[in-house]
Amino acid sequence: MARKKIIAGNWKMNMTPSEAVELINTLKPLVKNDDVDVLLCVPAIDIIPAMEAAKGSNIMIGAENMYFEEKGAFTGEISPAMLADAGVKYVIIGHSERREYFAETDETVNKKVLKAFEHEITPIICCGETLTQREQGVTIDFIRQQIKIAFLNVTAEQASKAVIAYEPIWAIGTGKVATTEQAQEVCKAIRDCIAEIYDEATAAAIRIQYGGSVSAASAPELFAQADIDGGLVGGASLKADFGKIVCYNK
Ligand code: 13P
Repeated sequence: MARKKIIAGNWKMNMTPSEAVELINTLKPLVKNDDVDVLLCVPAIDIIPAMEAAKGSNIMIGAENMYFEEKGAFTGEISPAMLADAGVKYVIIGHSERREYFAETDETVNKKVLKAFEHEITPIICCGETLTQREQGVTIDFIRQQIKIAFLNVTAEQASKAVIAYEPIWAIGTGKVATTEQAQEVCKAIRDCIAEIYDEATAAAIRIQYGGSVSAASAPELFAQADIDGGLVGGASLKADFGKIVCYNK
């Protein structure tokens, strides 16, 4: 069965609740594409008003992060149950900005992935190399390590539903998009790694996104690659351009 594309926005730390409602109202008529799952991952405080604004449209609302404990004395954190109760079906886990600024590691990513599945929330698991790692030729080794640890104790059934976002760090917010060949090569290596951990059927089912300066101009070629099942879009998801990215095949 062909994999359905999933195109997601990651708003990062942008948009107040009222700005979120306004942007969703602008995007609603622009993102109609039945070939694609359309998702906006928004700041926690925007989730509920964004859900309300997106009602009756094909836009799903996801989260940008969550904690791996159920509840308790973790001031400032958001629990998986809180997200699930708000109707969230997808959560970004282990974005490179969380790894860099908030000390997330492959181990905490793995804990969060397991917890998300426990609450029937699909994790969008981020991986990606630095420029130095690419220049030193260790990209694939590094990403295989990130993937193998992220999927520790994850069942094949869970893994087949997961989403992986390959985001080379040097391409994030820099306007420097990876070439289609570079993006396809790594996404294929990720799929091969999943086949190695699980089996061919799981590898064929899992969806792998590319992220890093995706634009309306670069989306069609990227999303046409055999192992690229959509995108995780930062800057361009904050404007009407996101509609053009979602409708990349129209
Ligand atoms: P940009 O699209 O702004 O490069 O951000 C990519 C990203 O980090 C999405 O998670």
